[in-house]
Amino acid sequence: MKFDTKVVRAGITPDPTTGSIVPPIYETATYVLEQVGRDKGFDYTRSSNPTRQTLEEQLASIEGGKHGICYASGMAAVDACAKLLKAGDHVVCSDDVYGGVSRHFNNVLTRYNLSFTYVDTSNPEKVREVIRPHTKMLWVETPTNPLLKVTDLAAMAKIAKEHGLLYSVDSTFATPVFLRPLEFGADIVVHSTTKYLSGHNQLIGGIIITNRDDVFEEMKFIQKTIGAVPSPFDCWLTMLGVKTLHLRMMRHASNAQVVAEFLEAHAKVKKVTYPGLPSHPQHDIARAQMDGFSGMISFELVGGMSAGRTVMNSVKLCALAESLGAVETMITHPATMTHVDVPKEERDARGLTDGLVRISVGIEDPEDILRDLQEALEKV
Ligand SMILES: Cc1ncc(COP(=O)(O)O)c(C=O)c1O
Repeated sequence: MKFDTKVVRAGITPDPTTGSIVPPIYETATYVLEQVGRDKGFDYTRSSNPTRQTLEEQLASIEGGKHGICYASGMAAVDACAKLLKAGDHVVCSDDVYGGVSRHFNNVLTRYNLSFTYVDTSNPEKVREVIRPHTKMLWVETPTNPLLKVTDLAAMAKIAKEHGLLYSVDSTFATPVFLRPLEFGADIVVHSTTKYLSGHNQLIGGIIITNRDDVFEEMKFIQKTIGAVPSPFDCWLTMLGVKTLHLRMMRHASNAQVVAEFLEAHAKVKKVTYPGLPSHPQHDIARAQMDGFSGMISFELVGGMSAGRTVMNSVKLCALAESLGAVETMITHPATMTHVDVPKEERDARGLTDGLVRISVGIEDPEDILRDLQEALEKV
């Protein structure tokens, strides 16, 4: 199947009992056995569930992977990956990750004697410099949240291979429509399905996808043991959302390109970061490894924080909200919202200034988004 056909059809077959084209929601905790020791492939929903399995097969197929495992949130998926490590292990991590990821790594996982070094993974030399004898995992987010740094995934695969590191890529911002990290040598792809994959701000979820049988077996065991599983209903909603992923992503990206160009040309805007702009520092890598630049933009205004606040408080169509990747355009202030738990000195060192504004460009008519931003900018 071609990619777009896979998005609509992969992993989904009509219900064998009724012919229903949409698979049913198996909202059940348990399954009746035919005899002791003989079930129909399912025994308890913490371990597996037919609706969840449909979503896992659908997303694994689109990502070009063999196995998928769904979680109750993107963060539960991140945590499950970390559970592949043991006390004493060290992780090298992209320096500009989602604030919830660094909060989990620094404030929770360090209690279990795991250590983390943050580095600009868009520079492979810097990554080599921080690898230690006990480094076991390379954690890359690309494009990053919120500064949209792009990492050369094939270069990271080479480093991971040389040092025997488990190589995970959080590809939430790109989605498999624009980037398939397994093709570049990643061991694990992570997504918050809360975002583009489900796409309509209707739920919280996560998934990991891998080609490695050993990683899959271990993560299945962890999932079954801990139970950070999504509800069958949320899996079903995600599965329906995914069917239009390719169409939504094309519109997110074309709208974002228009918005990024508008902001870059605006006199009150100091800096715009969007991988689809030639001014983006890793524009060439993004062009080479991605099939599109997705829908996320960050920018700073000439007047810094107070000007940014005016814009965020003045928009009407754009929703001032945490989260991203849904059909509605959302505007976010990373310093007080998504990255509030990253200490200020660290945020400043990264370039995540108090004046930074992030936009998740939706799929509305671009003229309406531009008008809303133009009117808000006039108030500055
Ligand atoms: C890049 C990235 N990874 C992971 C997460 C965590 O996902 P969730 O909110 O579904 O737990 C987020 C949330 O914003 C994110 O932006």
